[in-house]
Amino acid sequence: MSDSTVNWVVTGSSSGLGLELCRQILAASDKNKVYATVRARKSSGPSGEDKISVLEAESSGRLVILEGIDIGKDEVVEKLREKMAGVELDVIIHNAGSLTGHAQERTGDFA
Ligand SMILES: NC(=O)c1ccc[n+]([C@@H]2O[C@H](COP(=O)([O-])OP(=O)(O)OC[C@H]3O[C@@H](n4cnc5c(N)ncnc54)[C@H](OP(=O)(O)O)[C@@H]3O)[C@@H](O)[C@H]2O)c1
Repeated sequence: MSDSTVNWVVTGSSSGLGLELCRQILAASDKNKVYATVRARKSSGPSGEDKISVLEAESSGRLVILEGIDIGKDEVVEKLREKMAGVELDVIIHNAGSLTGHAQERTGDFA
């Protein structure tokens, strides 16, 4: 990767909008590198449910999956900080979540 690499983080990348965002960010520019966070990889089956792992395999190293990132857990900020040590972030898309009708407030530093 050259210095012009643009580093993205997308949370909640195992499915839905997060997965599609990862796909489109990679397709938009070969300078883009995506750190895709998931709670866990999905178990692969005959229908290929583990789509983020497939995307990772096709990405020539431009997509890195960060496992164990549950945004509902208190330790998530520290975990992400450890996993991303030394990486200079350019863009964060905080997509993880579901439409349950109740809000959760979180505070704390990420950087
Ligand atoms: N789709 C819509 O029309 C719509 C409208 C308004 C807002 N949104 C918001 O957009 C985001 C994505 O929606 P979507 O339709 O793509 O939903 P989705 O298909 O249900 O996907 C949600 C993603 O978030 C992950 N996730 C859920 N809870 C998490 C947690 N506690 N920690 C980490 N990851 C978690 C899921 O991972 P797992 O595989 O581990 O469950 C999954 O990858 C959500 O925040 C949703 O509230 C969506």
